[in-house]
Amino acid sequence: MRQAGSTSNVASVVVIGVDPRAMGQIRETLGTEAALPGQSTKYEDALGVIRKLRPDVVIAGFDQDFEEAIRLAPQIVAENGRTRLVALAAHANPDHIRAAMRAGYREFVVLPDDAELLRQAVHEAIYQEGGDEDHGEVVTIWGSKGGAGSTFLAVNLAAELSPVHRVCVVDLDFSMGDVAAFLDIQPTQSMSDLLRNLHKIDERMLAGYVIVHPSKVHALAQPTDLEQREEVKGDTVMRILTTVARSYQYCIVDCGSRLDEASLTAATVADRILLVSSPDVPGIKNTWRRLQLLERLGIERNRIHVVINRWDRKDAAFTLADVESNIQRKVDATVSFDRAAARSVNEGKLLRDVDKKCPAARDIESLVGLVTDGEIAVEKRTAGPMGWFSRFSGG
Ligand SMILES: Nc1ncnc2c1ncn2[C@@H]1O[C@H](COP(=O)(O)OP(=O)(O)OP(=O)(O)O)[C@@H](O)[C@H]1O
Ligand SMILES: [Mg+2]
Repeated sequence: MRQAGSTSNVASVVVIGVDPRAMGQIRETLGTEAALPGQSTKYEDALGVIRKLRPDVVIAGFDQDFEEAIRLAPQIVAENGRTRLVALAAHANPDHIRAAMRAGYREFVVLPDDAELLRQAVHEAIYQEGGDEDHGEVVTIWGSKGGAGSTFLAVNLAAELSPVHRVCVVDLDFSMGDVAAFLDIQPTQSMSDLLRNLHKIDERMLAGYVIVHPSKVHALAQPTDLEQREEVKGDTVMRILTTVARSYQYCIVDCGSRLDEASLTAATVADRILLVSSPDVPGIKNTWRRLQLLERLGIERNRIHVVINRWDRKDAAFTLADVESNIQRKVDATVSFDRAAARSVNEGKLLRDVDKKCPAARDIESLVGLVTDGEIAVEKRTAGPMGWFSRFSGG
C-alpha cells in the first residue's frame, strides 16, 4: 500500500546554490504544489537548514559550485534517507549527470525543459512507498565486444529469476536491440513509445510499454524497426532505469557492447555490472580496457563481475589463471560454450526450454547467485603461463 511520506499533501522543499533567476523558474514550475523557501540557501549552510527543516525534497544547483553539490549529497542522504535529491543545471552535461547519480541524486533537471519531471519528483516525494531501499536491483550486462553474449545472458538470467522475482529486461542497445527477438515476441509497444512519453512516465504507465513472455519475464524492448535517433542522453537513461527499478525487483539491462552514453549511464547506476567477455584475446583485451574505464569513472570494483562466456576448458587457448593475471582481477563466473545456446537463439526460445540440463543452462543457474549475493561456481583454476597479455598491454 502506498504511504504518505509527509504529514501534508504539499512537499517541503529546500533549494541550495541557485541564482534568483533559477529560483524564479523553480517557483514557476512548482506553483502551489510545494512549500518553497523565499530564497536559495548557500551550500555551506545547507546541512544546518536541512537538519532543521527535514524537507521532502532538496533541489541543489549544479552551476554555481558543482563540487559542493556533489559533496553534500551523501551527507544529506545519510542524515535522512527519505529526502529526495534533485540536481538542477542549465545544461545536461553527461559527466555531471553521472557524478550526480553516483552521489545520490535521484533526478537531474534542466528547466524549463524538465518542468514536468520536477513536478513529478516533488509529487512522488510525498507519496513514495518508503525510501530507496524499496528499489529493485539494477544489473547491467555489458559485452566487452560485439557478440560476447550480453543479450543471451540477459534474457536467460532474467528467466532464471522470474519464477520468484518480478524481473524486467531493459534493452538499452539502441542500435541492434534484439531482446524481443530472443524472446520470440513482436513488440506491439516498446522503448520508442516510452521515450515519447518519458516526461509523464510512472510505474503504472510503464506496464503499458513492456512485453510479457510466458516465463513471466517482462521486457522493455526496442521496436522491430529501429529508428534513426540521436544518442540517448544520460538523464533519459537514468529516468528509464529509475522507473523500472521502482516497479521490479530486478532490472536486467542489456547494454550490448557499445561504449555510449546509455551504457555508461547504466553502468553508473547499476548495483552490479556483469562484464561479459568471449574467451579470446580481443575479448579479454577489451575487458581489461573496460575495467580501466570503469575504474576511471569511479565505479567500485565490488560492483563489477567478470563473466567469461562460451568458455570451453578443453579447447581454450589459455587458462582462467591466465585471464585473471591479464585483467588483473578474478573471473567471477564462466558460462560454457554450448551448441544448445545457438539453437535456443535461432528458435527464439529460452535456453532452459531447449535443454534445461545442458552445461550453459547450469552455469546461468549459478549466475543467479552472483546477482542475488549467493555463492557461485567458477571452474577450478589451474595456473598457467601468461604470454599474450604483452600483445595488448605493452607490459
Ligand atoms: N555460451 C554460449 N555458447 C555458444 N554460443 C553462444 C553462447 N552465448 C552466446 N552464444 C551465441 O552467440 C551469439 C551472440 O550472442 P548475443 O546476441 O547474446 O551477443 P551480444 O553480446 O548480445 O551481441 P551484440 O553485440 O550483437 O548485441 C548468439 O546468437 C548465440 O548463438
Ligand atoms: Mg545483443
